Amino acid sequence: MNNPGSMRQTQRLTSDEAGLARAAEILRRRGLVAFPTETVYGLGADATDAQAVAGIYAAKERPSFNPLISHLDSFESAQKQGVFDETARRLAEAFWPGPLTLVVPVAPTCTISDLARAGLDSVGLRVPAHPLAHALLQTTGRPVAAPSANRSGRVSPTDADHVLGDLDGRIDAVLDGGSSQVGVESTIVACLSDTPRLLRPGGVPREAIEALIGMKLEAGAEGGKSPLAPGMLASHYAPRARVRLNAASVEADEAVLLFGRDAPKGADAARTALNLSKNGDLMEAAAHLFSYLRQLDASGAGTIAVSPIPETGLGEAINDRLRRAAAER
Ligand code: TXA
Ligand code: MG
Repeated sequence: MNNPGSMRQTQRLTSDEAGLARAAEILRRRGLVAFPTETVYGLGADATDAQAVAGIYAAKERPSFNPLISHLDSFESAQKQGVFDETARRLAEAFWPGPLTLVVPVAPTCTISDLARAGLDSVGLRVPAHPLAHALLQTTGRPVAAPSANRSGRVSPTDADHVLGDLDGRIDAVLDGGSSQVGVESTIVACLSDTPRLLRPGGVPREAIEALIGMKLEAGAEGGKSPLAPGMLASHYAPRARVRLNAASVEADEAVLLFGRDAPKGADAARTALNLSKNGDLMEAAAHLFSYLRQLDASGAGTIAVSPIPETGLGEAINDRLRRAAAER
């Protein structure tokens, strides 16, 4: 393995004061902590820190970046991160804490990193009901991004042994809180327009949601793929500029996204240049990816030329996103 996220001593923490304090401390220091929620165990990282979030992808060996759910201790904390319309507010009040995730527009006060949102202007938020999850979020004092705590392609874990079976040596700790009760992931509802959409069925039944809001939920694929109006719930961030991959040389009117020390020919004269990681560190590159794309796009360049990036470790997920950005039109 060529990423640093893969060689860690994994502690099993007990569900007491000391275990919680330690788990929160690790999270605040950019570490990775798996913790129980009522649905499944989540692999948590400080959602506000893109580098910490990059660690999630490295540990899971996930080949692509998708938006992650950020977990909060209360509706009040969630309202700092996202904008809740009337429907979203009613759903939050009825089903939080609990196995429901709401995808809402980002608030101006949002502190959740670009990487956790996969560059989108919306954010997935959930207030879990599990008492340990709640206590951990309160002690940590910031939003915690957490997909299920399994390696990519494996089943979601519902106890600490499952987590260790998949991630021992790849994460800093697992907070052992026994078995998850619900066993399936949270229901995801997007409230981004007048029509709320069901992005993923889960722990809260559709019927309960529809009864509460007095209308049917529209269909919407997980990750927001289809069938949606353009721009409404795009699952991928797409820059306005054209994206040109594996650039060997750069034109003067182009913006350039560099990686490592070998710059393409003409990069010095480019309109703007940003380097994802001078040291060729893929974790650092992942952490910068979405914000740098946005910055280069904002320069007004018609094209963003991108240096070659290796297909190893997190490079696979980075290249996946860049290819989508290059294809999207
Ligand atoms: O039960 C659960 O929800 C578990 C536990 C650990 O809380 N968490 C979980 O998280 O399943 P995660 O990060 O794997 O869920 C990611 C999904 C994405 O595939 C996407 O469907 C949706 O959440 N999502 C999150 N933010 C989104 C956004 N801004 N736009 C569209 N979909 C979003
Ligand atoms: Mg999962």
